[in-house]
This record gives sequence, C-alpha cells and structure tokens, in this order.
Amino acid sequence: GRPRDLAGRHVVVSAGGTREAIDPVRYLGNRSSGLQGYALARTAVARGARVTLVAANVSLPDPAGADVVRVESAAELREAVLTAATAADVVVMAAAVADFRPAARHDSKIKKSDGEPDPIHLVKNPDILAELGERRHAGGPKPEVIVGFAAETDDVLANGQAKLARKGCDLLVVNQVGPHLAFGTPDNAATVLVAGGEPVEIPRGPKDDVADAVWDQVANLLRHPRTP
Ligand code: C5P
Repeated sequence: GRPRDLAGRHVVVSAGGTREAIDPVRYLGNRSSGLQGYALARTAVARGARVTLVAANVSLPDPAGADVVRVESAAELREAVLTAATAADVVVMAAAVADFRPAARHDSKIKKSDGEPDPIHLVKNPDILAELGERRHAGGPKPEVIVGFAAETDDVLANGQAKLARKGCDLLVVNQVGPHLAFGTPDNAATVLVAGGEPVEIPRGPKDDVADAVWDQVANLLRHPRTP
C-alpha cells in the first residue's frame, strides 16, 4: 500500500493544456492530455492529501476525492491556481500553459476573405510557476513546496537546472520527450531535479508510478524543509 505521508496536507495540481481564444470558435492549444496531472491528483488523494485539481480542457472523469476546478485559458488557470495556492502546502504545475495568447479575441468568427488572411498578433502570458516562486520569495510562507514540469529534448540537465533556478521552484520534473512517451500515452519517464540536491531518475512506467515517485520527493522536502 501507499504511505499516508500527505495526510493533513493541501496540495494543488494543475493539469491539461490551456486554450487561448482567437475568436468564438477557434483557439491556440497544445497536445497535453492531462493524464500525468490526473495521476498526480489521484495518487495524492490515496496518500491522504486534500487535493485541488485545476483542470484545463481535460476530457477525463473527475478523480474521486479531489476538488476539481475547470478552466480554459492561461488567465483562468492563473487565477484558480494563485487563489488555491494561498492556503496550500504544495503546488504542482503539471499543466502545459500557453506561453503566448492572441493579443485580441475577435467577438465574431473571422471570415474567410478573398485576400491574404490577417496575421494573428501574440502577446506573452504571465509565467504562473515563476510568480508562485516570487510570491514566496517576497515573504509568503506558502506553498512550502513548489514543483514545475518541463519537457526538454537536449541538454536536459543543464537546461533543467537553469529553469529550476529561474522559476524559483523546489523540484523540476523533466520529461524525457520522445516516441511513445509523455503526451497522450499511459507511460512516462522523468528526471526530478532538486534545488540544492542531486537529480533523481524516475524509470519508465505507468503515470501513476511516476506520480508516486514525484510525491516521494515532495514528502521528503516536507519532512526536511530547506533552511533558506
Ligand atoms: O518554461 P516552460 O514552459 O518550459 O516551463 C514549464 C513549467 O512552467 C510547467 O510547470 C508549466 O506548468 C509552468 N508554466 C507556467 N506558466 C507559463 C508557462 C509555463 O506556470 N506561462
């Protein structure tokens, strides 16, 4: 059986992928299925946590025992995560958040025109993970543990360590992007980068097993808080 090492803890997990509206019928999106985030929510419930799952466009049934907040855009996801995070012990940002959104959303459907289509101008979305780290750095005690996800294809360790530092999180779960792994598949594999510690390899396996391995690292940090 699983350890009940998250009992009494409130964890927030974001899952899925955001959609940024272009007009009432079109959006910019990504291929995230939400499977890994849902596995994190399910296993956290099993380990005794109170779980808030912020789900962006996921077509999976609600995990039993979790409070599910459904969102669509990065702005909605940010609002839901930051609100829940004020009272949370742990935040895990497993969602694929759009880095950019269309500068303006058309109120009516863009028509097929005779000439060249108008360009879609993009603006940057706020980095929610970095914002969580900055808030804590500014004196907030919570969340105690902040976990980010990253899909890296090359220089995994160097890029990952730089991202971990830049975003001010405690753990960064770096996905080995490749055939038959990550997006939409039942299996995953990852390296967990630990701020001020050694990387931990998570072998290829079902996403529930990967999730449990992530919670092992989170529970370890909750037991042995870093002294800043
Ligand atoms: O920088 P990159 O997109 O690779 O970082 C990925 C991590 O940052 C994920 O944990 C993702 O949920 C989070 N993120 C975020 N806000 C953004 C972009 C990414 O919180 N605008």
